[in-house]
Amino acid sequence: MEAFYKKLLDNNKRWVESKLNLDPEFFKKLSSGQKPPVLWIGCADSRVPANDIIGADPGEVFVHRNIANMVVHSDMNMLSVLDYAVNVLEVKHVIVCGHYGCGGVQTAMTNKHVGLIDNWIRHIKDVYRFHQEELNNIENEKDRFNRFVELNVVEQVLNVAKTSIVQSAWERGQNLHVHGWVYDIHDGLINDLDITLRDNQSLSQVYQLDL
Ligand code: CO
Repeated sequence: MEAFYKKLLDNNKRWVESKLNLDPEFFKKLSSGQKPPVLWIGCADSRVPANDIIGADPGEVFVHRNIANMVVHSDMNMLSVLDYAVNVLEVKHVIVCGHYGCGGVQTAMTNKHVGLIDNWIRHIKDVYRFHQEELNNIENEKDRFNRFVELNVVEQVLNVAKTSIVQSAWERGQNLHVHGWVYDIHDGLINDLDITLRDNQSLSQVYQLDL
C-alpha cells in the first residue's frame, strides 16, 4: 500500500513532464482561467472517472460527484456547484451521468442498514417509490436494477431542471441543455437516455416558476 501511495506522486511528476513535452505552455494556459462548456454530475464510484471516459482535457469539464449522482435540492454543495457553473462559467451542457452496477442504487433496492449513508440512500428510495409500479413489474432482478439506475438519472435530470438556477437561466434565454447518461462499467460505453431538457415545459406544472 505504501508503494501504491508513493507511486501516485511519482505518477504526477511523469504526467507533468508528458504534458509539457506536448505543449510547454500547457499549465501556463490553464492557470489563466477556466471556461468549461460542461458540468458533470456523476457518481463518486472510482470506476467512473469523469474526464477519462469522455476523453476530456483539464479545463473542459466542471465536476460534481456524490454517491449515486444525486441532485438533492437542499444540498448546498450541489447548488453552489450548479450556480457557479450556470451563472459564472455559463456552461452549455449539464450532464447527469449514472452507471449500471451503482452500489448506491443497488442498496436502495434493499432494506439493508449501512449507517449514516442510509439517510442519503433515502433520496434514491424515493425514486423507487415514484416508479414502483414499473419497477415491481420487472421480474428479472438485474433488469430491474438496470432500469432503476436509468430512472434515477431521469429523476436527477428533472431535479436539475426544477432548480430556480436552471429555470432562471432558461427564462433569460441562456443556451443550456440538461442531459441524462448511463455509463456501463461492463464495456465502458455510455448510454445516452435521450431525455435532454432545454426549457421548463416538460416539468410538472407545480414546479414551473413564474420568472
Ligand atoms: Co455509483
